[in-house]
Amino acid sequence: MKLGILKEMLPDETRVAVTPEMTKKFVPMGIEIVVEAGAGLGAAHDDAAYREAGATVSDNREQIWAESDLVCCINPPAAEDAAHIREGAALLCHLQPVSNLDLIRTLVDRKATGLSFDQVPRITRAQKIDSLSAMGSIAGYKAVVLAADATDKYFPMLMTAAGTVTPAKVFVIGAGVAGLMAVATAKRLGAVVEGYDVRPDVKEQVESLGGKFIEFEIESAVGEGGYAKEQTADQLKKQQDAMRDHIAGVDIVITTAMVPGRPAPKIITQEMVEGMRLGAVIVDLAAQTGGNCVLTKPGETVVHNGVKILGPLNLAATMPFHASGLFGRIVGNLLVDIVEEGELKLDMEDEVVDGMAITHAGEVRHAQTKEALSEGGAT
Ligand SMILES: NC(=O)c1ccc[n+]([C@@H]2O[C@H](COP(=O)([O-])OP(=O)(O)OC[C@H]3O[C@@H](n4cnc5c(N)ncnc54)[C@H](O)[C@@H]3O)[C@@H](O)[C@H]2O)c1
Repeated sequence: MKLGILKEMLPDETRVAVTPEMTKKFVPMGIEIVVEAGAGLGAAHDDAAYREAGATVSDNREQIWAESDLVCCINPPAAEDAAHIREGAALLCHLQPVSNLDLIRTLVDRKATGLSFDQVPRITRAQKIDSLSAMGSIAGYKAVVLAADATDKYFPMLMTAAGTVTPAKVFVIGAGVAGLMAVATAKRLGAVVEGYDVRPDVKEQVESLGGKFIEFEIESAVGEGGYAKEQTADQLKKQQDAMRDHIAGVDIVITTAMVPGRPAPKIITQEMVEGMRLGAVIVDLAAQTGGNCVLTKPGETVVHNGVKILGPLNLAATMPFHASGLFGRIVGNLLVDIVEEGELKLDMEDEVVDGMAITHAGEVRHAQTKEALSEGGAT
């Protein structure tokens, strides 16, 4: 089987889907690898490193599409780009199918299998290929690093000859993968850390990382499979009222609240920001899906009444070496399960493959994508 590794096309993307380290592991599995020239440069892997690891390097992207049995990248390619895929071949990346309907139509036309990392079922067996969590962890870590850079305070308590410095107070809203990493990282830096989530079950997880779980007197919002569900306008208002005074007393807020398949809940109002102290910092990790703060501008830092509001996008790409290393291992963990004797063997009955395969043999298999297509949506 031939595996094609594409260079990422988004302007700020620095990661690569497969590193030379993983290339070395794929060769003995009977996989022939062709890497697009310059694909690894942003992550500090040059073409020579891929050649040494046993890959061929090509600057002919169309040919890579046309010759590979499996094409792999991180971000969804443009529909016109993917139109070069060989009929019946497979594409593996974060397809984000509902937002990329033209790409899905192209894969259907080409009878290609579109395997999406954002649709990996959240079951124990699939944790080793959970790229959303791997990248979410990086985002949580980096959010704290950005906050530490933006704040006008030390994170740790310090006893100095000039007097005692009190520690910064960090409040993390949303204690999923990124939020818990933010709690742990802020704690390591010595801050006083608090966490909050609409799912009360995460209390123990926040506490086990040294954070204090803040309980507001509002009902929890737990939906299917134990994930958060969208709050009603009334519940959100109650949450904002309960949180207002608390937020006024912290130095840094890191927001990571998301609801699967929905826009990010707007938790922090303008009035709440105006109640914060001058010099306070908000890092809004939900910026990609609209932000948890009403004043967040995706990809920008805004200052409102002396409060800095950061809306970083794609933080995983700011740590491309480790992000690509983890992504490559995730690809490797998947290939171990779907490559047999050097050939791609996709078992559509397998729960993981079934969940990831958005398109196959000219059909759309993902219910939400099917629905969006039937409504005639474009990208
Ligand atoms: N394979 C697996 O079993 C697996 C893999 C990854 C994650 N998980 C679990 O799934 C859960 C969620 O993971 P995630 O990080 O992808 O979630 P996510 O990115 O969808 O959301 C982040 C957090 O925001 C919270 N949230 C939503 N609305 C909120 C609001 N209004 N106020 C406060 N918080 C709000 C959610 O409860 C969640 O904890 C975690 O418990 C994680 O451990 C399981």
